[in-house]
Amino acid sequence: MDILKQRKIGLLTSGGDAPGMNAAIRAVVRAALAEKIKVIGFMRGYEGLISSDIVELESMSVSDIIHRGGTILLTARSEDMMTEAGQDRAARVCDVLGLEALVVIGGDGSFRGALELKKRGVNVYGIPATIDLDIDCTEYTIGFDTAVNTGMEAITRIRDTSSSHERCSVVEVMGRDCGNIALWCGMTGGAEEALIPEDETADTKTVINEIIRNRSRGKRHNLIIIAEGRGGKGGSEQLAREIQSITGINARATILGHLQRGGNPSALDRMRASMMGYRAVELFMKGVRDRVIIYKDGKYADMDFEEALGVKREYNREIYDIMKKLSI
Ligand code: F6P
Repeated sequence: MDILKQRKIGLLTSGGDAPGMNAAIRAVVRAALAEKIKVIGFMRGYEGLISSDIVELESMSVSDIIHRGGTILLTARSEDMMTEAGQDRAARVCDVLGLEALVVIGGDGSFRGALELKKRGVNVYGIPATIDLDIDCTEYTIGFDTAVNTGMEAITRIRDTSSSHERCSVVEVMGRDCGNIALWCGMTGGAEEALIPEDETADTKTVINEIIRNRSRGKRHNLIIIAEGRGGKGGSEQLAREIQSITGINARATILGHLQRGGNPSALDRMRASMMGYRAVELFMKGVRDRVIIYKDGKYADMDFEEALGVKREYNREIYDIMKKLSI
């Protein structure tokens, strides 16, 4: 094929890595190659786009990665991409390379960067990937399922030692602005309380009263989940200290931290990543420009980029309320 006539798209992963990003990369590359579209990968997200750090992705470049956590394209939170000069430069690189589209695999911040490129004429596709499940236009983000499973497994292990020593365990999970990981880990780990950033109704006093009440009902150990966004990183240690000093119950904090971001993606993450990656290329082939791929009401769908970023979902207390009812 005449190299000058060859159609090309760009691909990058950006923001915090999430298990399943590699499966999405594989899907985009293989779906594009099947249509004779060349795929240019950018290393370290927008950093690599701005500095033209590129790699051509062949079919074998994405072989043996569907099961791996992290991202083979590496990732970064690019400060340059937050400046107009960086955004102009990134758009120019897309133009110079003759890219007909740029596929961005990442979270909300990464999508905001893509929107700036769209405003500069780049045809952009967003594939939602973040362990936090905090992109409001979609009910699913790649990586969430694996992160929750990892958190739940860790909590299950902590439960064993917590019950043997009749302690109170405070487990801090990721989630700076969003409590979804904490709520899901709370429900699936059988916790008594989950402190999240979106709703501060429950506080240290509530937690302590609850621990005392539960002990008087015969509970011999306690499990409290706290999102890192409540009290900042290390907030769990402060909470454990207060619980111990006020109740006299031996309390220990465990910060799961980046442990939740790694590991082999679950079947669900591989599935959603494959379907979403494929769909992005399918939309490109149909000439439907500037879309975010979403999962909503049990179906894969897509939305206009700008409209998608305007969606605001209200925090829904249902999971929290049910977790509380089931913990008594
Ligand atoms: O966005 C995913 C996430 O893991 C958040 O839950 C967490 O607050 C943040 O990234 C941590 O970012 P970093 O790895 O840059 O410290």
